[in-house]
Amino acid sequence: MKLVITRRVFRELVERLSGAYEVVHNEEDRPWPVEELASRMQGASGAMATVMDKFDEALLAKCPDLKVISNIAVGYNNIDVAAATRRGIRVTNTPGVLDDTTADLTWSLLMAAARRIAEADAYVRRGDWKIAFGVQYFLGQDIHHATLGIIGMGRIGQAVARRAASFGMEIAYAISPRASGGTGAQRTQFDGFTATPLILDELLGSSDIVSIHVPLTAETRHLIDQKKLARMRRSAYLINVARGPVVDEAALAWALKEGVISGAGLDVFENEPAVHPDLIPLENVMLVPHLGSATRETRTRMAELAVSNCLNVVLGKPPLTPVPEMKVP
Ligand code: GLV
Repeated sequence: MKLVITRRVFRELVERLSGAYEVVHNEEDRPWPVEELASRMQGASGAMATVMDKFDEALLAKCPDLKVISNIAVGYNNIDVAAATRRGIRVTNTPGVLDDTTADLTWSLLMAAARRIAEADAYVRRGDWKIAFGVQYFLGQDIHHATLGIIGMGRIGQAVARRAASFGMEIAYAISPRASGGTGAQRTQFDGFTATPLILDELLGSSDIVSIHVPLTAETRHLIDQKKLARMRRSAYLINVARGPVVDEAALAWALKEGVISGAGLDVFENEPAVHPDLIPLENVMLVPHLGSATRETRTRMAELAVSNCLNVVLGKPPLTPVPEMKVP
């Protein structure tokens, strides 16, 4: 049986699989262009893929033997799930094993952005720090007791909010990304914290820090556009560790440049690995290359779960963590 691993993963894992299966492993770690991916997939029963591998209708049509696409990621917007379901191909992801690690990265960006760490570090390295201690050097935004607005109160959003509780923060969350009416004033009890449900516009207008944790869907694409950014406080910070296209990057660059908001921390981008050129010269945005779950322990757990999902399906067993199937007539 042939299995394809589209990017480099941990050697022990590949060695383990190679004993029992024909494994095509992208040891080189150069992303395969679509034609190459299609040709390497010939005859494969299972694929272990990353968020950068686009499995669309056209590719799936070229993979008649495929039984499972096992994403090494919790997000699966790279896969046309409806097309896969029509062809009887199972799609799986890696939920649960990366929540705390992604929440930690969110907090790294949040604190670094609000306290202007990257900007200050560059200032010292450039040799611009000539006079010790300035009363007004790099004034940032208080994090403790500020209001944190979470867009997407799922597993990762909740892990971020749980950390916020120990900073004495007020926590709000958007009731549904596109909902427009009926704000619920009642606080909701979650595991380890309480939070106030608000419609998105209210959340944007009342939060000091806004953090995005929704999946990328048709509904959430460009959820944060120029109009939404204009609703935020001028002193506010925006953190995105979810998916780049949830934010209109050109609009964000405008908002950061014009002082519509104070700063941002981004782990994800609209066209990775490209970053909107208007963001690059801005000092009030922290840019990191899609590192949300990037710790050895967590990436190992993700890869192990992806392998289990893949093997279960090819061996005729139910996958551990399938994504919801999409029935399309
Ligand atoms: C990474 O982006 C993931 O979805 O796990």
